[in-house]
Amino acid sequence: MQADAVRLNTALDLGAATARIEVQCLLQHILEVPRSYLLAHPEQALTTARQALYDALLQRRLQGEPVAYILGEREFFGLKFKVSPDTLIPRPETELLVELALQRIPVDGQFRVLDLGTGSGAIALSIAHARPDAEITAVDASAAALEMARENARQLGVANTRFVHSDWFSGLTGQRYDLIVSNPPYVAAGDVHLSQGDARFEPMSALAAGADGLDDIRRIVAQAGDFLERDAWLLLEHGYDQADKVRSILQQHGFAGVMSVIDMAGIERVSGGKLQN
Ligand SMILES: C[S@@+](CC[C@H](N)C(=O)[O-])C[C@H]1O[C@@H](n2cnc3c(N)ncnc32)[C@H](O)[C@@H]1O
Repeated sequence: MQADAVRLNTALDLGAATARIEVQCLLQHILEVPRSYLLAHPEQALTTARQALYDALLQRRLQGEPVAYILGEREFFGLKFKVSPDTLIPRPETELLVELALQRIPVDGQFRVLDLGTGSGAIALSIAHARPDAEITAVDASAAALEMARENARQLGVANTRFVHSDWFSGLTGQRYDLIVSNPPYVAAGDVHLSQGDARFEPMSALAAGADGLDDIRRIVAQAGDFLERDAWLLLEHGYDQADKVRSILQQHGFAGVMSVIDMAGIERVSGGKLQN
């Protein structure tokens, strides 16, 4: 196991600790045991069949395929989400957007939330799971991603979410929401990160948004006013260096109380404002 972690680290430059955890994840998947079991039995012998399966998975990882796609799942906000190359792999920093949303949603009572660009459903279903009385609408332009989000809703036993196949607001005419959240594509088209790490395997339509990465954020902010109730918040995740620009886009479109919130790494990661018209 240690030798495989070293091979992974050498091939992908993950850092020793991450490489070790990834090898453990592959083994856990093959053995179908909890992590605690693996830690208690570090030199677990594999049957020939399991060894072959493990070797095949390790080989895929050595080629750079994201571990989440190999395992077919990723944990987010304490819940397990199925993922595939049709969906972005939910990122830990996106949990901040869920926390900020939950701060604004009453524990009980009616409240309508819209998640734009739901992907695997990570944001929408985490909110729906924590606020069973709220009504969540989850939108995506990718039919395949929406199918995965529906499957995740079934698996998590979440019933208070409806799924809409739509180009941002185009399929939502006449609807109003008490909160809109989005983690839209926000990487600049030529950004080197698109050709590095996990991003190489993720859908480009989930990542890139025009020359400065802000095309989708501009579209969402420009239209959000027609879909928000009075005093309702729009909260947007964005790139590490985009907070200034996102705040200014929000202000240009009449949003008040415009602010940004830092993530665990100290980076301004979510910006938002509310409409008082
Ligand atoms: C960065 S991913 C976020 C996925 C998920 N919400 C998450 O945080 O893990 C952006 C999502 O927006 C969707 N998307 C891109 N353009 C869109 C559009 N014009 N209308 C609706 N959804 C769109 C993509 O298919 C993708 O699922």
